Amino acid sequence: MSRIFSGIQPSGELHIGNYLGAVQNWVRLQEGPDRSFFCVVDLHALTGNYDPADLRQRRHDMALTLLAAGLDPDRCTLFFQSAVRAHAELGWVFNTVTPLGDLERQVQFKDKSARQESVITGLLTYPVLQAADILLYRADRVPVGEDQVQHLELSRDIARKWNAKFRPEDSPYFPEPQALLTPVRRLMGLDGQAKMSKSLGNTIGLLEAPDDIWAKLRPAVTDPARVRKTDPGNPDVCNIYSMHKAFSPEPVQAEVRENCSGAKWGCIDCKKTLFTHMEETLVPIRTRAAQLQEKPGTVREIMVQGAERARAVAERTIGEVYDMMGLAH
Ligand code: TRP
Repeated sequence: MSRIFSGIQPSGELHIGNYLGAVQNWVRLQEGPDRSFFCVVDLHALTGNYDPADLRQRRHDMALTLLAAGLDPDRCTLFFQSAVRAHAELGWVFNTVTPLGDLERQVQFKDKSARQESVITGLLTYPVLQAADILLYRADRVPVGEDQVQHLELSRDIARKWNAKFRPEDSPYFPEPQALLTPVRRLMGLDGQAKMSKSLGNTIGLLEAPDDIWAKLRPAVTDPARVRKTDPGNPDVCNIYSMHKAFSPEPVQAEVRENCSGAKWGCIDCKKTLFTHMEETLVPIRTRAAQLQEKPGTVREIMVQGAERARAVAERTIGEVYDMMGLAH
């Protein structure tokens, strides 16, 4: 059996890009035989500019949305990173085996630090904490998007370095975690220009009201070759079609393909069909969210219990690690 771990930043409500790119996969994985841990990484969130009151709200909203999206506390362990102190402790331990050059080479660090005048250390050591998140649970599979592949490679290097230093060669303590790439392609934003992202304002929220979703979908960018209804389109370059692939059943996808390339439907017809099928996915999510919102305290309670379960595993790991490193208590 393997152990699954993944983390998500507390950005507030999820959008459909996050859902398709990550969370839908988590919901599937929790159904499998492997033990899974899903973590709202609020310590990682401290590396960006933020307001404490706002962060408090965003982490709560993220937890609520993850539960609404289908994470089930009976099938997985969902918790806030900061509730399990051992994340920070193992992060420190890993800082002592990680070469500076490996961190400076991370593409995400280079991108983010290039945009700042004064670069905080936490941005550099961000992937060390990420390795600690995963290895604290000795997880060997990590469902993530493409953008995290380099961080996962670093997690494997860290595991290997720590094992080499503190374990005999034939019995490594930490596994080398592998990325489990999410099958769905990344969704483009409604502008069809860039990846769907909250900071670009081109998203559809997972809990957004149907009228608001339609108001965004109606003017959304399609294949630019379709100026008039009689112009045949190419579904493969159309962002609306990529959403059909995520939300509509296969026969509907085939129908869309035929009516678009045969110039039988206008883009608006295609969008109406998409909207109908999106609603099939989104209605139950919205309903669960409303139920959770009605009972204040439920989300908090679930997160407290999740942290307790996570802590039981984490405490054991950090205890064993300290022992092996000469810090027995
Ligand atoms: N860095 C990840 C992201 O930005 C979030 C994350 C933190 C994570 N710790 C993790 C993902 C551990 C997987 C495993 O998406």
